[in-house]
Amino acid sequence: MTPFTVAFHHAAPHGALTAVHLADSPDAVPEAVLAALPDEEAELARSLRGYRQGQFVAGRLALRRACEQLGSRPPPLLSTDRGAPAMPPGLSGSVSHKRTLAIAMVASDRAGTLGCDLEDYGPPRLGIASHILTPVEMEALAGLADAERWIGVLLRFSIKESIYKALDPYVRRYVGFHEAIVTPDHERCAHVELALAGKEGPFQVDARYDWLAGRLVTSVRIRPIVAGSDPGLYPTRQ
Ligand SMILES: CC(C)(COP(=O)(O)OP(=O)(O)OC[C@H]1O[C@@H](n2cnc3c(N)ncnc32)[C@H](O)[C@@H]1OP(=O)(O)O)[C@@H](O)C(=O)NCCC(=O)NCCS
Repeated sequence: MTPFTVAFHHAAPHGALTAVHLADSPDAVPEAVLAALPDEEAELARSLRGYRQGQFVAGRLALRRACEQLGSRPPPLLSTDRGAPAMPPGLSGSVSHKRTLAIAMVASDRAGTLGCDLEDYGPPRLGIASHILTPVEMEALAGLADAERWIGVLLRFSIKESIYKALDPYVRRYVGFHEAIVTPDHERCAHVELALAGKEGPFQVDARYDWLAGRLVTSVRIRPIVAGSDPGLYPTRQ
């Protein structure tokens, strides 16, 4: 598995997904890899150090390849003032990285903004549950065996990270884990109820999850609900 090469492409319900191998190392990204990036992306990458440099580069390679899956040849993909990927007009994109893999998902922005998240299955960390989950969510998982409860916690954690990324362009503030109640179903979708502290919205939220190459991938698409608009134009389930 050569670092900075494509691991796989996937046609996900919310958009084109590309995964890129990542070296689990703080070593500098090889100059040959940096030199293949657009100049401004390479310059930004050279300003980063350690694991962060590799993560940024693998994420940007994945983002570019996902754009190409949609027929787009994007300009340098820098970062917004909020830390999100700066996408060309007409596209929404999101990035996530773990130790050995980075993913990016890209779609037309016509149906809303995208957020995606990648998680390794383990090791289980049930101690995070009370930080991530609302009392209603804790109750939904009460009584389950540890292995099932961990899946329930991990799904909700990852979907909330995806919500954060998709929601940020509208609210531009830190959104806490207790500002959303997530209820995954068995069909790789989840119902999301937002309880935003800033009373922003209303928003239509569509959440998905899948297990790809042994890892959890979640994605969320969000669009504002405009009074009088036809909700059928943007179906919540495909
Ligand atoms: C911002 C956050 C979601 C990133 O997640 P993470 O697990 O640390 O890291 P990931 O690898 O999954 O994602 C990193 C990518 O997120 C993206 N990102 C960072 N800030 C972002 C923002 N404000 N909006 C959208 N995307 C953002 C970037 O693309 C970044 O990668 P890059 O810098 O290489 O481009 C996380 O750090 C965080 O603050 N979470 C707490 C808030 C939260 O999730 N609340 C739940 C609300 S219901």
